[in-house]
Amino acid sequence: KLATKIQKSNDSLKYIQIRNFKIRTWYTSPYPEEYNSTPTLYLCENCLKYINDKYILERHEQKCFEYHPPGRQIYQNGLNSIWEIDGYKNLNYCQNLCLMAKLFLNSKTLYYDVEPFMFYILTEYDPETQKHNFVGYFSKEKVNTTHYNVSCILTLPIYQRKGYGNLLIDFSYLLTKAEFKCGTPEKPLSELGLVSYRNYWKLTIAYLLKSIDSSSISIRELAKQSGMLDNDVIVGLELCQSLLRNYSTGEYMIIVNIPKITEIIQRWESKGYVKLDARKLLWKPLI
Ligand code: ACO
Ligand code: ZN
Repeated sequence: KLATKIQKSNDSLKYIQIRNFKIRTWYTSPYPEEYNSTPTLYLCENCLKYINDKYILERHEQKCFEYHPPGRQIYQNGLNSIWEIDGYKNLNYCQNLCLMAKLFLNSKTLYYDVEPFMFYILTEYDPETQKHNFVGYFSKEKVNTTHYNVSCILTLPIYQRKGYGNLLIDFSYLLTKAEFKCGTPEKPLSELGLVSYRNYWKLTIAYLLKSIDSSSISIRELAKQSGMLDNDVIVGLELCQSLLRNYSTGEYMIIVNIPKITEIIQRWESKGYVKLDARKLLWKPLI
């Protein structure tokens, strides 16, 4: 079973309520003690402020209402948008976001030191309320000395297994390609992070193998076109059963397994998940 969930004692935080959803939490998060000892924590979807009393939250939400998260809308396609938020400019929002994310992450992550990061929030528009509802996000270091292009990624559990994690991952690589770089997510990956990334690397390589001229296929070229690091390209090729390794020389040979990549692509397309449209990106690298 994926994601072993921690058993918590009775007097600790078990649920968060956000919009009209009550979501079971998976792990503990360093909220101040009085918020951690209540069974349900109420979150304002607009600012992600946490309150342990439903009525106080309702009053707060009447004053605190926006149609979308803070920051700049840098992508919009159909009902989905992505908003870029600077951890320095929206300190409280980003701290609250990291505290919430920790409820679904086992490993240690940042909570208060959010200034060096940018946050990318995925929303889904609800035509009835005209609101852009929070779906998930990823964070990314502003100045990057490593190849990391994602620090932390989350899809709210109520939106999981609908392809949104894949959309966020795809978007993170789109930014990396716009910076003319290659990148990889920060390690260690959680179990869910690993299965999602392996699925993404497999799919991306399958689509590239299908589309690019076979004479120009090399690990280097695949890395350049995907924004992925060589090692992740190799994982993708292996999952597409399109990589042969000569164990005596250590050399790799790419042999495109057409039936396999066709099957991978068909299976994925049959899910009907939303796709990223790279032409809709409204964003230029900082430097
Ligand atoms: N079990 C098996 N396969 C899975 C699962 C799962 N629970 N979740 C994702 N996958 C794989 C599947 O191949 C899936 O395709 P399918 O649904 O057609 O089978 C594919 O990944 C794409 O899944 P998405 O629906 O796009 O992913 P989702 O929106 O659920 O988000 C995420 C994935 C972000 C990892 C989510 O599970 C999550 O928020 N987990 C908690 C936080 C976390 O662990 N984040 C990653 C930490 S590592 C890091 O941040 C760098
Ligand atoms: Zn609020």
